[in-house]
Amino acid sequence: MRNSAKRPSMEIKQGVRMAHDSTNLSPLAARKCSGLRGHLRVPGDKSISHRALIFGALARGETQIHGLLESEDVLNTAKAMAAFGATVRKDDEDVWYVEGLGTGSLVEPTGVLDFGNSGTGARLVMGIAGAHAFATTFMGDASLSSRPMGRVLNPLREMGVEVLSRSGDRLPLTLKGADPAQPITYRVPMASAQVKSCVLLAGLNMAGTTRVIEPVKTRDHTEKMLRGFGATLGEEMNDAGETVLTIEGLQELTAQDVTVPGDPSSAAFPIVAALITPGSELVIEDILLNETRTGLITTLLEMGADITIENERNSGGERIGDIRVRSSALKGVTVPAARAPSMIDEYPVLSVAAAYAEGETRMEGLEELRVKESDRLAAVAAGLEANGVPFEEGKDYLVVRGGGTIAGGGRVITHLDHRIAMSFLVLGLGAEKPVTVDDAAIINTSFPGFADLMEALGAEFE
Ligand code: S3P
Repeated sequence: MRNSAKRPSMEIKQGVRMAHDSTNLSPLAARKCSGLRGHLRVPGDKSISHRALIFGALARGETQIHGLLESEDVLNTAKAMAAFGATVRKDDEDVWYVEGLGTGSLVEPTGVLDFGNSGTGARLVMGIAGAHAFATTFMGDASLSSRPMGRVLNPLREMGVEVLSRSGDRLPLTLKGADPAQPITYRVPMASAQVKSCVLLAGLNMAGTTRVIEPVKTRDHTEKMLRGFGATLGEEMNDAGETVLTIEGLQELTAQDVTVPGDPSSAAFPIVAALITPGSELVIEDILLNETRTGLITTLLEMGADITIENERNSGGERIGDIRVRSSALKGVTVPAARAPSMIDEYPVLSVAAAYAEGETRMEGLEELRVKESDRLAAVAAGLEANGVPFEEGKDYLVVRGGGTIAGGGRVITHLDHRIAMSFLVLGLGAEKPVTVDDAAIINTSFPGFADLMEALGAEFE
């Protein structure tokens, strides 16, 4: 283990970051390349990175985090935790340290918390803020300010939290924490790990027993990390087959060493890029294989992808492994709605794989895509249209008709959405004419170094 007493090379201070500047775009184009080859790692998992910082700030003692994703989204959560009084720093070897204050013991931030582009950061932290009897003000960039927050504000209101907003349950807004906060039983009305996590984090920081009923299983990183930090979390199935999570508030958490595995949602881009460009073979190391996150791999295998999982092992309570992927002739499939929660962030890049697959790929149960960093269904449809890929867009479904030559030549509007930017750059790697995205800077919210990494493997960007 590395020495935690080491002098920090950097300390995160409480502060306000300007919202993403949508007037200052950085376009990038991808053109047809002759295959991607090599071994690579992608940055740490975004969901786990946010949570490691949050749990570190709520635990007593010093949490160490190895492999934290140092993207704009996660750094905003680090700043927020510092604003609540935690000490957050990293050393010269990129190990992060969080000295926490204990559950229910955070201090009132003096400034506005800017979550930039991050729905996960904003919604999880709202749960914590709402359970503390002080005021916290949240802001974000143009994308985050247009996303619905009622899904987390409604359960918080039931707990006694007051919401001050001029913009109808959208950012910017101020939460006046409940005093005392009232634990509730809450049935999550949409498949959302963010809503589940917000209610669990609120429950953890207030006296009493909070219950969350989850009709559809979503990513379980909050549950895993609660237990990993020493909390007791009840979990059972009710008669309706729904998961019921029970948490007793104000349990003490103990600082941990966390190693963040590679993000499968980031690995998705080189995986699809390798599948669609002839002559490719990549090995992507140390990727999180938690089954609440592997829906894309399942779907690509059904499409005929040559993907193998190697070196499968356990790391810090999570299944991880290396993914070997080779160029493949893909065929269209129907992706059932029930699979959506385990691949919710991967539909844009799956649509790109589908464009190169023979026949129709039908994706169902996509209503949540409408409220991501952009309306992802509309953004994907517009990007396909701009590049000559036939498709049908419904309210909650998308059909991509693949197999033809991809003309390319289109300019794709990213709408401050990192996954739209990366997906269409991948589309361009096999298209006849270059595909341009209007802004590649937004990729830094989740995957810093994306373009350099892809170029080192053989991708051609200009
Ligand atoms: C996340 C949950 C998902 C996902 C997001 C990360 C999380 O959002 O899209 O990128 O870390 O909890 P929803 O909970 O809105 O589905």
